[in-house]
Amino acid sequence: MAAKLSFTFQFPLEKPSKAFQKKPSLALSHQSYCDGFGFSKKNSGFRGELSVKVNALQEEVIQSTTSETTLLSPTTTPSSSKLVLVVGATGGVGQLVVAALLNRNIKSRLILRDPEKAVSLFGNQDEEKLQIFKGDTRNPADLDPSMFEGVTHVICCTGTTAFPSKRWDGDNTPERVDWEGVRNLVSALPSSLKRVVLVSSIGVTKFNELPWSIMNLFGVLKYKKKGEDFLRNSGLPFTIIRAGRLTDGPYTSYDLNTLLRATAGQRRRVVIGQGDKLVGEVSRLVVAEACIQALDIEFTEGKIYEINSVEGEGPGTDPEKWQELFKTPQE
Ligand SMILES: NC(=O)c1ccc[n+]([C@@H]2O[C@H](COP(=O)([O-])OP(=O)(O)OC[C@H]3O[C@@H](n4cnc5c(N)ncnc54)[C@H](OP(=O)(O)O)[C@@H]3O)[C@@H](O)[C@H]2O)c1
Repeated sequence: MAAKLSFTFQFPLEKPSKAFQKKPSLALSHQSYCDGFGFSKKNSGFRGELSVKVNALQEEVIQSTTSETTLLSPTTTPSSSKLVLVVGATGGVGQLVVAALLNRNIKSRLILRDPEKAVSLFGNQDEEKLQIFKGDTRNPADLDPSMFEGVTHVICCTGTTAFPSKRWDGDNTPERVDWEGVRNLVSALPSSLKRVVLVSSIGVTKFNELPWSIMNLFGVLKYKKKGEDFLRNSGLPFTIIRAGRLTDGPYTSYDLNTLLRATAGQRRRVVIGQGDKLVGEVSRLVVAEACIQALDIEFTEGKIYEINSVEGEGPGTDPEKWQELFKTPQE
């Protein structure tokens, strides 16, 4: 079921240059698993890197309560030596990952199809903090080695709809995105990486069984599993996070300031599983936070986790609580 919620939109950040400026809309769409696996966007013809500038937004958001799962770090984080490549950064989970990285002063680099969309989402940020490259993961030629120079960690949250939709335009199907795109990306990544986190889906190991076979009618689970397997066999240090049905967002029309204030509402308690037995929903905020936390938890390397979130108190951004959660998954 799709629901729409209107809210007052403020664009507190320095305006992007005219060439990349885009009028944001005021609606928040809440997408179901069945329409699912995201939303679409066409190429803008941009090629290259954007530079961006920091502003005062963090001061404002840091005052917010941390009792809910917001994207805020509990304390001001010193700048990090990480350079995190986020692929799928304009998507529901991806944009929350980027917002959380920016808020933690962690440098990020984005490879995406529509840089204009990134500017309208993240504003003008300092090039030292956020670098944007145009690329389509379906095209190996787009994934130039220079894009990966200096990258220490990768979070991949690309995806498309499970069923035919406008987002499949130009052959952007699960086979092309979840399998070929992931394969191309993984093949292009340098072996020096410290971690590659791939967002996948619960049910990928059971795509032939009901009810998963319905979701898999057009192959989304099968192709996600192929993408997972390619990463697992790549020799790269990986963590796979299989999400349940996604809730909260995608906040496709939010700016960074608003993204940082998004909360997981009541659904803050995190349930982590292994063995693809977990069934349920998970807030996109929780998935984004899990990806970021997994980068620093050594024992999550080489592991696959399922993730849900349910009503109750959650770990927020506390690394120790996340460590505990990953340590004791439900089997
Ligand atoms: N929806 C669910 O309930 C559900 C459940 C379990 C797992 N998942 C998976 O969880 C992940 C995150 O989901 P989400 O809903 O947050 O994602 P989403 O909103 O669908 O975003 C997908 C992202 O992938 C990018 N992308 C698509 N095709 C691409 C291509 N050819 N090259 C480069 N980038 C491409 C999109 O960019 P554009 O802006 O250019 O389109 C967008 O940034 C996805 O892997 C999804 O399949 C979803």
